[in-house]
Amino acid sequence: MIVIGLLAGIVTGGVAYFIPWLPDQASTQAEDIDQVYWFVAIICAIIFALVAGVAIYAGWKFRAPSDDMDDGSPIHGHTGLEIWWTAIPVVLVVAMSVWSAVALARAERLPDNPDEYTQVEVTAAQFAWSFTYPELDRTEGELVLRVNQPVELLLTSNDVIHAFWVPEFRMKQDAVPGIQTQTVITPTKEGSYDVICTELCGLGHAVMRAGVRVLSDEDYEAWVAEGREGGEGDGGGEGEGDGEAAGDAVFAEAGCGSCHALADAGTTAELGPDLDSVLEGRDEEFILTSIVDPNAEIAEGYQPNVMPDDYEDSLSEAELDALVAYLVETAGAGR
Ligand code: CUA
Repeated sequence: MIVIGLLAGIVTGGVAYFIPWLPDQASTQAEDIDQVYWFVAIICAIIFALVAGVAIYAGWKFRAPSDDMDDGSPIHGHTGLEIWWTAIPVVLVVAMSVWSAVALARAERLPDNPDEYTQVEVTAAQFAWSFTYPELDRTEGELVLRVNQPVELLLTSNDVIHAFWVPEFRMKQDAVPGIQTQTVITPTKEGSYDVICTELCGLGHAVMRAGVRVLSDEDYEAWVAEGREGGEGDGGGEGEGDGEAAGDAVFAEAGCGSCHALADAGTTAELGPDLDSVLEGRDEEFILTSIVDPNAEIAEGYQPNVMPDDYEDSLSEAELDALVAYLVETAGAGR
């Protein structure tokens, strides 16, 4: 029985391991985490197949005939067997715990020298992410990282509990209002990924996503330089320039681009309506209402209560004005 169970276990474990179930590994943390995952998954597959195999075999082999009304023969425990089936699980569970603890400690380790990693402040809100790069004095609706450079993410939330997760990076961390949580990622593969919210946070939970771009050293430097130029050329982009300069900064900082496409801002998200089509030719009043009271009129094919309805509080009047002016000027113009 045990041989049959073991064979079934080895086959099941092999099938589990050799089919690519998991997303790409795009961070150093992913390798360690996957090793722990497979260690635990294969042990579980083998034990499950062993127990199920023995149970099915015993049910078939020792089935009582239908006219057999006897009680089973009285048996006492088997001390040798009991020692083994206690000792083996203890060893396995201790091994899983120690391996997990080591992997977690390694995953969250930052270089001692602060020059060797960056920090990004991640703010979650129903239902968008925004990313502040303190060293660059810049806030964006997408997470931009340099390949092979560790980044410490400092997370918080403006409203309810959300959770940050990029499957390809494996690391997952809650964003909790009122406190700052932390996680570390060292991306190893250039490319585009998605941040996915993994804490049920309201009606828009399923669409609460943001883009991640992992750039080569060269492209990352270009992205940093582009931010500087944007800031200086337009008189700061901090609210002191002309309407457009400030408006596009508000558009980026408020995270509008994580849900909406707008050609002028170069955003292509499809969670909310395409602003180039729904706002083209609309007046300031309509646009302002759509921002501060998004449920007043829902574009065809979209759900109410998905867009945050607190922009009247979270943005200043000047920021709102700048954003509206920017949208009046640009919506539809880029097509
Ligand atoms: Cu935020 Cu789910």
